[in-house]
Amino acid sequence: MNPSQNKTPLYEALLNFKEKNSYSFHVPGHKFGTVFSESGKELFQSILEVDATEITGLDDLHAAKGVIKEAQELASQFFESDDTYFLVNGTTSGILAAVMSVCRPGEKVIVQRNCHKSILHGLELAGAQPVFLMPDYEEDTGRYSGVTAKIINEALKQHSDASAVFLTYPDYFGRVFDMKEVCEVVHNYQVPVVVDEAHGVHFKLGPPFPPSSIDLGGDLIIQSAHKMAPAMTMASFLHVKGEKIDQSRLNYYLQIFQSSSPSYPLMASLDLARHYLASFSQADKSNLLTYIDGLRKVWSEASRYWDLLPGGYSDDPLKLTLEVRAGLSGFQVAEILEDHHLYPELATEKQVLLTIGLAPTIHLHKLHERLEEVNCQLKKQPKNATISVDQPQFPKFQTLDIDYAEMSLKSAKFVEWSYVANRICAEAIVPYPPGIPLILKGERVSKEQVTSVKSLLRQGASFQNVHVERGIWVF
Ligand SMILES: Cc1ncc(COP(=O)(O)O)c(C=O)c1O
Repeated sequence: MNPSQNKTPLYEALLNFKEKNSYSFHVPGHKFGTVFSESGKELFQSILEVDATEITGLDDLHAAKGVIKEAQELASQFFESDDTYFLVNGTTSGILAAVMSVCRPGEKVIVQRNCHKSILHGLELAGAQPVFLMPDYEEDTGRYSGVTAKIINEALKQHSDASAVFLTYPDYFGRVFDMKEVCEVVHNYQVPVVVDEAHGVHFKLGPPFPPSSIDLGGDLIIQSAHKMAPAMTMASFLHVKGEKIDQSRLNYYLQIFQSSSPSYPLMASLDLARHYLASFSQADKSNLLTYIDGLRKVWSEASRYWDLLPGGYSDDPLKLTLEVRAGLSGFQVAEILEDHHLYPELATEKQVLLTIGLAPTIHLHKLHERLEEVNCQLKKQPKNATISVDQPQFPKFQTLDIDYAEMSLKSAKFVEWSYVANRICAEAIVPYPPGIPLILKGERVSKEQVTSVKSLLRQGASFQNVHVERGIWVF
């Protein structure tokens, strides 16, 4: 490890400040925890003591010159980017700023269809003309996942006026694709690659984790440090590599999409998460891998109601996928796991996704005991004939049926499901998690999409569209 990576300048500045016992005549109103509801005081106290604001010595995220700049530079050094920015409003804010900085109104962009809704929100704000690219379907997992250099090349050949390409790497389940080859193709067309690497902040740790797109040709890469590294929720990194990104535009939009009162505990947690990753030793890695082997054994031997998909199925060893056997749905299994205080990351019709941290946290024999209880409950569960919902078919390349500019002039109306087919959707229909839209805003809804949403609802999937049980908004 580079010795400078031992430093945590922002965190240390906060600690030094705390020790000075200063009197606060500034915001925030909790005055370092002295004014606070008694109900939460004990639990919140230690964090409130470092919940500072932009006072002398603590720098300013929006004009970083001191300890925040230093902490960002250390992150950039560790991730081997050209510049790294701290984000306090999640990867969501980084994606919004990224889309706005590479895309002007009316410009065409190539977007992997299985993208997070924040990319779609960014495209709508930018008034872009997206060309959605359907990823390859994987028979063995029943999911659409990565893209190939061939399909990207085809897309760019047909749409050579595109100004950027947006990719998601890895997918929620830890699946990656040949990003290096894809970036080489995109760069032949002189356009930047923006990568939503929300689930890959730990890839910089090296094998057996897949490589990070920072090292594979990505130009602008956004990572949720809070998802797979030990950082506080909403803490993310945005990295720039190379010359293709206009950083003055990027900076401008980061100011728009980020709070003017960024949280110091969040920013310090980024400083500490980078330090954690930089200090991760070979011994830590082998300890983690032994633990993962143990976890895999417990989960795979625990139940005859699921199969643990083999290691090679997910390229990220921190993601484990249970494939639920016939008669049950992933939603049912997840519900029963939760009854026993085992909380998975997400469930789909047939799968349950488990996410592991970077160090052992669970006693394997206790987990085994709990899974036996889960088994007993699953045994009593009525089994249904598995309803396999056909995945709606999407074209290889798809544009919206009406563009964002036109949509902004139209009024939407709410219709019940029986009247939805063939109408243009006025909202993205998003099962959550993973937050990836099944129907896009501006897309003509097919009968298969209607069947698919209704079936997911019947099986217990959650949607962020609160009214979705009854119908949706259409143009
Ligand atoms: C693929 C992907 N991209 C982006 C995001 C948004 O990240 P954040 O929660 O850090 O805003 C998520 C969140 O679940 C995600 O799964």
